[in-house]
Amino acid sequence: MSYQNVYDRSMSDPSTFWAEAAALIDWESPWSQVLDDSNPPFYRWFSGATLNTCYNAVDRHVIAGRGDQPAIIHDSPVTDSKTTITYAELQDQVARFAGVLKAQGVVKGDRVIIYMPMMAEALIAMLGCARIGAVHSVVFGGFSAHELATRIDDAKPKAMVAGSCGVEPNRIVLYKPLLDAAIEQADHKPQCCIILQRPMEPGTLVAGRDLSWTQALADAEPADCVAVAATDPLYILYTSGTTGQPKGVVRDNGGHAVALAWSMSNIYNVKPGEVFWAASDVGWVVGHSYIVYAPLLVGATTIVYEGKPVGTPDAGAFWRVVEDHQVAVLFTAPTAFRAIKRDDPNGEHLKRYNLSSLRALFLAGERCDPDTLNWAEQKLGLPVIDHWWQTETGWAIAANCLGIEQLPVKPGSPTRAVPGYDIQVLDDEGRTSEAGDIGRIMIKLPLPPGCLSTLWDNDSRFIQSYLATQPGYYLTGDAGYMDEDGYVFVMSRIDDIINVAGHRLSTGGMEAVLASHQDVAECAVIGAADQLKGELPLGLVVLKSGVERDWADIAKELVTLVRKQIGPVAAFKTVIVVDRLPKTRSGKILRGTMKAIADGKEYRMPATIDDPAILAEVTSALSDIGYAKQH
Ligand code: COA
Ligand code: AMP
Repeated sequence: MSYQNVYDRSMSDPSTFWAEAAALIDWESPWSQVLDDSNPPFYRWFSGATLNTCYNAVDRHVIAGRGDQPAIIHDSPVTDSKTTITYAELQDQVARFAGVLKAQGVVKGDRVIIYMPMMAEALIAMLGCARIGAVHSVVFGGFSAHELATRIDDAKPKAMVAGSCGVEPNRIVLYKPLLDAAIEQADHKPQCCIILQRPMEPGTLVAGRDLSWTQALADAEPADCVAVAATDPLYILYTSGTTGQPKGVVRDNGGHAVALAWSMSNIYNVKPGEVFWAASDVGWVVGHSYIVYAPLLVGATTIVYEGKPVGTPDAGAFWRVVEDHQVAVLFTAPTAFRAIKRDDPNGEHLKRYNLSSLRALFLAGERCDPDTLNWAEQKLGLPVIDHWWQTETGWAIAANCLGIEQLPVKPGSPTRAVPGYDIQVLDDEGRTSEAGDIGRIMIKLPLPPGCLSTLWDNDSRFIQSYLATQPGYYLTGDAGYMDEDGYVFVMSRIDDIINVAGHRLSTGGMEAVLASHQDVAECAVIGAADQLKGELPLGLVVLKSGVERDWADIAKELVTLVRKQIGPVAAFKTVIVVDRLPKTRSGKILRGTMKAIADGKEYRMPATIDDPAILAEVTSALSDIGYAKQH
């Protein structure tokens, strides 16, 4: 069947389309409505149905005879270990972990925060929650105690699960003290913490609150799967919003299972029993969808990789993993390929490995620059597929659906709308833009199954953030255009979000941290172009009058403050002091203009600028530290 045909069917009769896809999932009881549109703008999929996501990802594969097949392969160059867990072993461990939660009084609907490095136990914890209907919220290990505390206060978890430490190539990250500090800072206090003690750095357990993972699992009574409503939440995943307060994206059980199972064969062209590797982190949406749920829902083998694309030990790391585990499809962020290309431009490492199992490379998480795409295509000799999506949608909005029909690639474009998504580019007045004209990229409601159902405990912020700009449409927050062939080009964000090494961060959040410093009068953070990470945050601060201290000391304090308040993942390392910030006459800081200057791009003098002379001062300050170079 052609892509156009499948896409048209998904648009003309979504209920029949998704009801057919729902046959990929085992349901406990059937739905009364495929698409419940009784309460717009809240749309629900598979209303009335019940199921269990963990049963679909684990138990049913054991029943179907896949018990001895590897479900998870943990490959960890940073600890020099490889471990395989079969589906039967996974079922046992997940049931035991669910039993631990149950014994601690965790029941359906309770929240559990998971703060773990890239270990198989992170997946076991997520699936264990799903098994008893508890709602997990995984927090990326590169976030600080402060960010973790914010999430604890929002999600109000009954239990927390953490590893004692993470292993980064250059240091051991002590998770346990961060966890303790976060609980100390938060107003809400979880009842218990389950700690996976790692031999490199075990943590100190707090009596009466903390349990050892190993001990608790050994003593646990295995728990059965609990049926939940298709519309019940499976997880909350916090993502950067335009304020310091992250948004808790809520994912349901039914629509999520259907969409992800459908995507594995139709987008990625992966079959049960094959090995799928998403080289990301369980703390991000890519990890949730394509390290954990999608591969397991279809009975594939997933790889949990605790390492980096380069330096663990070299730029051949990815190729070694592909050969060792016979990976069929690899998914990562363009940044990882830029790192590999930087260290091994001629692809010498590629020649050392047999990559015959690999059929395709998928890239997402940030804009894929044509240079990186072309390099990967040339060196691998395989289809390299850029696809576009976001935490909110949970799976691809635009892609080249290899399982349906491979369309010609246009470098710089993630190809066309995935079936189920009605993508439209609208101008500021809400009119459909002409082909080639940049506008807001929006998705006409209803969103397909698998996309966010709301923001945790905050329906009004959900409406305000995503649905209020243009009634009937979901605002992606990305700007771009569609060409005359329907190819989507995602060019930039319309808000303050920047993308650092495929990680989504809010410059507004960083500005709030800088502004909290006693010597800072005002500040701006922009995402300056970076050859490796795509963008890097760059701070410009104006000091309060009368501050006489050495600005280099203040800059150091600001860098430390952002690392402490947000985390190392922010990669905030550069801040400069300027006398004034450029503003409009109404007082709005001209961040976009400063970004253009920093990136050495041509820019138009804003008509509303208050004092054009300030731009020259900023340009000179930026060029002193190596920015503002014309390319
Ligand atoms: N726990 C604790 N700290 C973490 C962490 C984790 N799980 N992951 C990253 N960090 C820390 C790093 O140690 C680093 O700290 P440092 O400032 O002390 O060096 C900081 O966060 C930034 O990490 P990272 O973004 O990984 O940068 P890097 O310079 O160490 O490595 C790349 C650069 C390109 C190799 C790396 O960014 C990469 O592999 N990117 C792939 C992107 C990706 O998978 N994105 C997911 C979306 S698909
Ligand atoms: P996240 O929610 O962290 O997955 O980040 C989502 C954002 O990353 C999107 O809204 C885009 O801004 C950007 N993004 C993700 N994938 C792509 C892509 N293939 N092309 C361009 N931008 C992308």
